[in-house]
Amino acid sequence: MEIPTQYLPLQKNGITVAIRREDLIHPFVSGNKFRKLKYNLLQAKKENQTTLLTFGGAFSNHIAAVAAAGKQEDFKTIGIIRGDELASKINENPTLKFAQENGMQFEFISREDYSNKASSDFLEVLKIKFGDFYLIPEGGTNGLAVKGCEEILTEEDAVFDYICCAVGTGGTISGIINSAQPNQKVLGFPALKGDFLQNEIRNFAKHDNWQLITDYHFGGYGKVNEELVFFLNQFSETTKILLDPIYTGKMIFGVIKLIENNYFPNDSKILVIHTGGIQGIEGMNQLLEKKKLSKINTDV
Ligand SMILES: Cc1ncc(COP(=O)(O)O)c(C=O)c1O
Repeated sequence: MEIPTQYLPLQKNGITVAIRREDLIHPFVSGNKFRKLKYNLLQAKKENQTTLLTFGGAFSNHIAAVAAAGKQEDFKTIGIIRGDELASKINENPTLKFAQENGMQFEFISREDYSNKASSDFLEVLKIKFGDFYLIPEGGTNGLAVKGCEEILTEEDAVFDYICCAVGTGGTISGIINSAQPNQKVLGFPALKGDFLQNEIRNFAKHDNWQLITDYHFGGYGKVNEELVFFLNQFSETTKILLDPIYTGKMIFGVIKLIENNYFPNDSKILVIHTGGIQGIEGMNQLLEKKKLSKINTDV
């Protein structure tokens, strides 16, 4: 499938910004989730596994995507969800409701247990409870996910000087780094605080033509403010493209700020990757409504 690329209406120093619409790749398994799951699901089938088990938080794009992809490809899916208080709130939570409607079975665990989720002891407990499964890590990042993300860039993308993407667990940017040209620079915009991502990316990335821009997480994972919501609404009004508030919205906000601050040389050609995540808007709007703050407009 040819993924559309659109140019953004930006005018400064001859810089052009194109957006790769990976969000349009699939109605429910959008953007980087599709790329990350592609080879994992093939591997699961090769191993004759019938169940996918993975981990995620309350509004996780990854949980929604695994549920939808599992349903489409005839896998049973199990989601280990961070926060036992969510067990009684499935119907209030659009992500969990969607995942459940797509057949996902949940196991809600405390934050403390969640922090040990990758330990061999905990995985043993899960095996006893659920039987054999194909394990997909939190956020979907592993070697096969990176292989899938290496397919985001195409040969024609060699014309771009910079490739920009949002960073959560580091799998997507690693794939992009591996398939970028040596003269291209890959800029990652982490959605969370902390330096640990550098090491995660180094585990998978084969080149060092990349850098993390750590100034645009807006206070941490899942945090937004009025300025970001205003930006998302202005962006969707002018481009008719929805961005998610957790990842792509912060990344594109950052790219535009960097352009304003003359970070990029004149005439730079920038490609930003829309990695999807639109399903998360509904949950974020619920939180914004509770706080009596402006909501993200989805009516484009
Ligand atoms: C919409 C979206 N964009 C970007 C990312 C970051 O991807 P990664 O976790 O591979 O760094 C995520 C999280 O996985 C996401 O859901």
